[in-house]
Amino acid sequence: METTIRRIGILTSGGDAPGLNAVIRSVVKTAIIRYGWDVVGIVDGFEGLIGQPRSRPLGLADVSGLLPRGGSVLGCTNRGHFKLDGQPDPAALESVFRQAAASIKRLEIDAVIVVGGDGSQRIGHALSLRGMGIVGVPKTIDNDLAGTESSFGFDTAVAFATDAIDRLHTTAESHGRVIVVEVMGRDAGWIALYSGIAGGADVILIPEIPFSLVEASAKIAARAAEGKRFSIVVAAEGAMPVGGSSLLPNAGGRIGAAHHVGIGPAVTAELQQLTGREARAVVLGHLQRGGSPSASDRLLATAYGEAATRAIADGKLGHLVAWRDGRIQLVPITDDVTAARLVPADHPLIETARGLGITFAGAADR
Ligand code: F6P
Repeated sequence: METTIRRIGILTSGGDAPGLNAVIRSVVKTAIIRYGWDVVGIVDGFEGLIGQPRSRPLGLADVSGLLPRGGSVLGCTNRGHFKLDGQPDPAALESVFRQAAASIKRLEIDAVIVVGGDGSQRIGHALSLRGMGIVGVPKTIDNDLAGTESSFGFDTAVAFATDAIDRLHTTAESHGRVIVVEVMGRDAGWIALYSGIAGGADVILIPEIPFSLVEASAKIAARAAEGKRFSIVVAAEGAMPVGGSSLLPNAGGRIGAAHHVGIGPAVTAELQQLTGREARAVVLGHLQRGGSPSASDRLLATAYGEAATRAIADGKLGHLVAWRDGRIQLVPITDDVTAARLVPADHPLIETARGLGITFAGAADR
């Protein structure tokens, strides 16, 4: 489909991730330098399209120096008017979609680049089905979007968590303690798996493998018997014990929940009891989302921004730029690409970890 483009919009939606500003910079530079288009930044994600539109023009001077900067200069919103999950009110939803369409028209924007995770891409898809020109760019530190093998923000989060685990090793060793490091990831264990292996954890708890703390404590006891008085446990925030919610009273229905209740402190208390060793919890939380993007996330974000802008020029609206088979590809935005991508049981790094004696404290680890 050929479209005449004069002005494009860009918004950053959902939780922030290191690399958002690098995408904004890349889109603005490509749009202006290669295509001669105007670029409008929509403020606070899709919320900027509700009511009186909130936006600002983005020129080359506005993106100068943005490459290493964390967060988003446009602002992000992850729980706004566009409520697609749970039991949405269809009339209210149609009203916000109409407002968004009116704002896009009013701003004279020919296409919008939506930088966001699963929920944001679903909103983009809904707008696309209603005739708006949308191209998606996948963002999430959780790396859990089915449409792509790689999202920017993940590498930086893993690097930060790995550094934290390194630091916790020395203090855990000095005191002979068990330290439980809770990392983010929602319902996926990617950050825990990668940082746990890179940081040399002894136990990794991920949502995809229901855990038994009796099993985890056996590993800690075995280490103690070998003279290792300390142990490091990396727990993904969405990890769950076998049988569900015994550690967290409200954990039962958490899959897909908007906000996770961390499991780290609960695991810590129970491990202290089971092992008789002093234990401490460290919740890394939003530190994993803050700060400057890694070189690898800057590259991915920059490549995505250029590819998304080119996709508009090529008339490929309704597509997501995605990393597949070692290169960027365009995939139609559908429910399939916005679904969750979890760690498969046969992922090679699970085997790597088990080969090194790291336990996931699951049935297959016995
Ligand atoms: O999806 C990114 C993420 O950081 C998750 O890892 C985490 O569960 C969630 O967002 C936290 O959301 P909020 O910023 O609303 O606390």
